[in-house]
Parts: sequence; C-alpha cells; structure tokens
Amino acid sequence: MVLQAIKYSRGRLEILDQLLLPHSEYCFDIDSCTMAWHAIKDMNTRGAPAIAIVAALALAVELVKMKLPPSAEEVKLFILEKLDYLVTSRPTAVNLADAAGKLRSRTEEAAAKKNSTDKSVREAYVMAAEMMLVDDVKDNEAIGKHGADWIRNNTEAGKKGKVSMLTHCNTGSLATAGYGTALGVIRSLHATGDLKHAFCTETRPYNQGSRLTAFELVHDKIPATLITDSMAAALLLLKGPSENIAAIVVGADRVAANGDTANKIGTYSLAILAKHHGVKFLVAAPRTTIDLKTRSGNDIVIEERPGKEVTVVTGPRSEGDRRVDRDHVETISIAAFGIGVWNPAFDVTPAELIDGIVTEVGVVEKDDDGVFHLDKIF
Ligand code: MRU
Repeated sequence: MVLQAIKYSRGRLEILDQLLLPHSEYCFDIDSCTMAWHAIKDMNTRGAPAIAIVAALALAVELVKMKLPPSAEEVKLFILEKLDYLVTSRPTAVNLADAAGKLRSRTEEAAAKKNSTDKSVREAYVMAAEMMLVDDVKDNEAIGKHGADWIRNNTEAGKKGKVSMLTHCNTGSLATAGYGTALGVIRSLHATGDLKHAFCTETRPYNQGSRLTAFELVHDKIPATLITDSMAAALLLLKGPSENIAAIVVGADRVAANGDTANKIGTYSLAILAKHHGVKFLVAAPRTTIDLKTRSGNDIVIEERPGKEVTVVTGPRSEGDRRVDRDHVETISIAAFGIGVWNPAFDVTPAELIDGIVTEVGVVEKDDDGVFHLDKIF
C-alpha cells in the first residue's frame, strides 16, 4: 500500500494527522481554509510541498461546498482574500506562497475573460489546485530518478556499487503529495537495487525523522537505521567508508537564487560534516521551492516555534502502544522548568556547501567559479 498524507476527491480533502504518527494512522477532513490554516500552523500536516497542496485544495473544497457569491468578480475577490490568509500560516517554506501566486494568476485570468461567471472562476481555481496535486507526484518521481542517477555517476561509492545514504527531517510521501524529494532519491536507489542502507536522523526537536521518515522506511521495507542528530559525525567518521556513505541528501523549504538553502534545523550542521568528511551533499526539491526573488539566505525569514516543542515530547506511554488518539497523547517534560529556549525551525545552508540541487528537470551544479545558475531551469 502506498503511503498517502493527502487524500482528495472533488469536494473532499482528508489529511493524515502527522501529530499522531507513527503510533496511530488517523485521518481527518479539512473542509475550510480556517481548518487548513490551523492544520498547517499546528503541524498536523507539514513539509513544504504538502503544506502548499493542502492549502490550495482546502480552498477548492470550500468553494465547491459553499453558495457562491453572485458575480465572477466577487468569487475572484473571495479567492484572493483566502489565499492571502492561507499564506500567513507558516513563513519559511516558499511552496505555499508560490502556489498562492500561481492560483491568484489563474483566478484573475479566469475572472477577466469576457463571459466569465461565478462558476467559471471557481472551476478555473479548482482545476488549477487539483493539477498541483498531480504535478507534485510526477515531479517527485523525476527528482528521485535524477538524484539516483547523479549518485551513481558522481560519487566514489556509486561508481563502485551499492550506496548508503544519510537523510534529515522528513521529505517523503508524508511531506509531499507522494513519493517524496530527498526520500524519493533514496526510494529510487532502493527500487533499482542500488541502495545498501539508509540512515535517518531523529531530527530534534520535533522528530520528523524518527516519527515520519522512519515510519516511511519501515513501511516500504527499505533497509534503514535511525540515529540521533548528534551521531551524524560519528557515522561519517566510523562508518562512512565501510558503509559506503555516498551522500547526504536533504529537502528544502526555500532555495534562494544563489543556492543558499533553508531547510529543517540541523541541515547546516550536516552540510559542514559532509564537507569535512568529503561526502557529497545534495538538496532535492521541486522548482516550486526555488525562490529567485530571494537573492540569498540572508533574506529568508526563519520561523521560530514555541519553546514547548523543545522541552516536551509527546507519544504513547510505552513502546509499541498504538492506543493513541487526538485526546490521549501523553506529554513528558524533558527539560528543567524555567529554562529559556530558542527554537528556530529551520537553518540556512550556504550554497558553497552544496554539491548539487536535484530538481524535476535535472541536477543543477555550480560552475567553475562556484556559482549556481538556478534561473536557467525556468
Ligand atoms: O517543519 P516541517 O516539518 O514542515 O519541516 C519540514 C522540512 O524542513 C522538510 O525537510 C522540507 O519541508 C522539505 S519537504 C519535501
């Protein structure tokens, strides 16, 4: 069975509640923009592409279910207002703003047509939002293939045979419409028999690695091992050569025009480790994550989340207990009361530490002067 975090048919959107994974697979309906905004903000759904798609489809569902305002112009204004609202849910991942911009243009075009009606504007919006779901899966499969080819052709381990890979956070089916970006590269290597072993970091403080990536790896029966974030250096040092770790591959929430990449906190540390140990470092992301309007990482807004995400962990009382539902998640405090907490959700990895940016149209590498030319792939 293929893992799906977003289930959609016209008029109905369901999401898998990622706050309950891996202990419970519980889906719930999103039938308004307000519900989508909260599901994104509260992390019931997460991952840059998934956030964008859930927001886009929530508005589609709301439009299909509601009594439309009487004119094309009023439907347009309603849509634009809702898009502006949805974009405020989380600031760092650019996919949501990118999707909102494209949906805004499609809506304005539809409303500007000579014989436009309330229904024709709605139809244009809904079709454009639905296409995003379809396109994301196709793009991810292409990212997986390009990334796997690059690993085979550009790493010492890849040229010799099977490779081991290290990844961070969650970038799989749960963070996208399906298949995944960085995890898609690992899936692709596994599918062709070229993956020896996958390692995933726990990804403190919110544990997307141990909760979500580990869940996907177990689900797909991919040979894999979980490490804490602090074990990555030891893994590269002690096991790097013997395990043939070919590369570290991560996703992205926003790639600036110069290649600087915002991704889950801890990514920057891994890129430094990769450089020190001579291991390749790849970013895998669809072009919707590349923001040519943001010149460098200095211009990326980094979301800061509540300190509670650092001082408290949630889950069932004992290992293997699956009796977890939305009202019965145990919370355990793991820090001294009263301590101050800094909780940036993302960090920025400078382009100089990145060997390649894997997109659906191929892998972008730096030129001889160390410069990425990301504008060339649009
Ligand atoms: O805070 P999250 O869980 O939404 O962060 C997710 C990440 O940082 C992912 O690595 C990134 O969005 C890439 S998703 C394909």
